[in-house]
Amino acid sequence: MGKKVTVVGAGFYGSTTAQRLAEYDVFETVVLTDIIEGKPEGLALDMNQSRPIEGFETKVVGATTGTGGEGYEAIADSDIVVITAGLPRKPGMSRMDLLGVNAKIVRGVAEQVAKYAPNAVVIVVSNPLDEMTALAQIATQFPRNRVLGQAGMLDTARFTHFVAEELGVPVKSVRTLTLGSHGDTMVPVPSQCTVDGKPLSDLLSADKIEELVVRTRNGGAEVVALLKTGSAYYAPSAAAARMAKAVAEDSGAVMPVCAWVDGEYGISGVYLGVEAEIGAGGIRKVVETNLTDAELAELKVAAEAVRAKQADVANL
Ligand code: LAC
Repeated sequence: MGKKVTVVGAGFYGSTTAQRLAEYDVFETVVLTDIIEGKPEGLALDMNQSRPIEGFETKVVGATTGTGGEGYEAIADSDIVVITAGLPRKPGMSRMDLLGVNAKIVRGVAEQVAKYAPNAVVIVVSNPLDEMTALAQIATQFPRNRVLGQAGMLDTARFTHFVAEELGVPVKSVRTLTLGSHGDTMVPVPSQCTVDGKPLSDLLSADKIEELVVRTRNGGAEVVALLKTGSAYYAPSAAAARMAKAVAEDSGAVMPVCAWVDGEYGISGVYLGVEAEIGAGGIRKVVETNLTDAELAELKVAAEAVRAKQADVANL
């Protein structure tokens, strides 16, 4: 049997993720769900009609679900579930402002996922990301390696884009890294950044690097301020879809993701943005990288910030 992936939430983030997953043509089925009646079915029909043009065989199935669990049979036995459900930011909001409202939504979804797709790898993208990932693990009671969050891929991609743009070089010559939280305690890691193998610090001044670090940390807010009606989805969905593909193909790719940390970097018991090897079972292992003392200190600050909020979400 081919692989089945479900995307919960047919907003812009969810629908673009479903489209990307379908266009990879590696899944048998992509299920797209939403609580807005007809929306996932309509989007699925539209995506299916693009199959002859884009040349993929994956079938997209849309399913309207109820908050009481109605319609969730459609996700039965999914190998992977991407949770995008919840509200996006509006201008002036921090991701943390979404905590209360999205916690209720994500908990409800996660409980249905546990019931209908008990063996799935769950990829959370709802905000605030690190806390919603922790909550999804609590609500599903899945092993921690099977619940991960998308953020580091996106933040790293933004950093890479900004560096490439600044230097006028192809994005593929640039390697950057961001760790920590998907929020104020994001930790871009300049010491690990290279352009054609050369350290970034040989090519840009410390002030310019700091400017790009700040722009990366505010990367989501910059898009929200321009869109005014919601948050980014092209780069976020690209990141989430690549993670799901790595799981589906059991690829062993090392990616920055939100993962449960258990002793790495001297940090334990928290969901945090780190690099990890991704396979069919979710996180195979967290991969530690060399950090400067200052970067490690920032990572520890990020861990403590998430830990404090993670304790709160258990009761939401
Ligand atoms: C962003 C949102 C999706 O960073 O968290 O764009």
